[in-house]
Amino acid sequence: MGKKYLIANWKMQLSINESRSLAQELVERLALIKTDTSIVVCPSGPVLSQVAGVIRGSDLLLGAQNSFWEDRGAYTGEVSPANLKELGCSFCLVGHSERREYLGETDEMVGRKVAALLTQDITPIICIGETEDERDDGRREEVLVQQLSLALADAFRQPHNGQHFIVAYEPIWMIGSGQMIESEDVIASAQLIRKTLNELCTAAVADKFCTVIYGGSVDTINLSGFLSCSGIDGALVGGTSLTADNFMSLVEIASRS
Ligand code: 13P
Repeated sequence: MGKKYLIANWKMQLSINESRSLAQELVERLALIKTDTSIVVCPSGPVLSQVAGVIRGSDLLLGAQNSFWEDRGAYTGEVSPANLKELGCSFCLVGHSERREYLGETDEMVGRKVAALLTQDITPIICIGETEDERDDGRREEVLVQQLSLALADAFRQPHNGQHFIVAYEPIWMIGSGQMIESEDVIASAQLIRKTLNELCTAAVADKFCTVIYGGSVDTINLSGFLSCSGIDGALVGGTSLTADNFMSLVEIASRS
């Protein structure tokens, strides 16, 4: 694809006021710089509509952190892709490891969500990654292939009709850990993701419509290294996206990379 993405996952870390102020500051500071990088912010659900209002008319793009797979119905507590669309979301995280761990989200549920989001023309940011034990047991490849194949199984039952999707390789042992991962491991995972996509949907579709990004302890020191990994076109950022100073530093680094 080539175009770079910097995606802020604010998780459940900010109050409503903090979310609004951070969005406002990013809008003001982004207006002062030139960047080709697509910048997406993913606030928590209750703040989406307020942040949508703050960023309207700016270059910032809006993403949700989760969605359900039906557009309407008796599903207490869930949020539909249709509602996310109405709120102005053009992106949505799916299958983040924290949802897999704490909310019991399965590969099959991820697959249904991805298909539903694509129907609404919302770009799914599909999160996949291995645990430390899986890495140590030499099961990284098996885990990534299974997660990715099931995430796209429902979507690829229909012929692909030009929607963009993002795959975020987030090794779970790297999230919030400040640990180091070797560039070769990131590159090998990106290659594996590409190879799997080529088998799932043909290389022509994968090359044109899928972006692969990296997530897990991305900061102002290591971002340029991740972005220089072959096959990686962006980053999904948690902790370092929570202040305007830190996140704008990432934007500037990505813009130069
Ligand atoms: P950290 O950047 O805080 O490690 O979080 C990564 C993440 O989970 C982004 O989705």
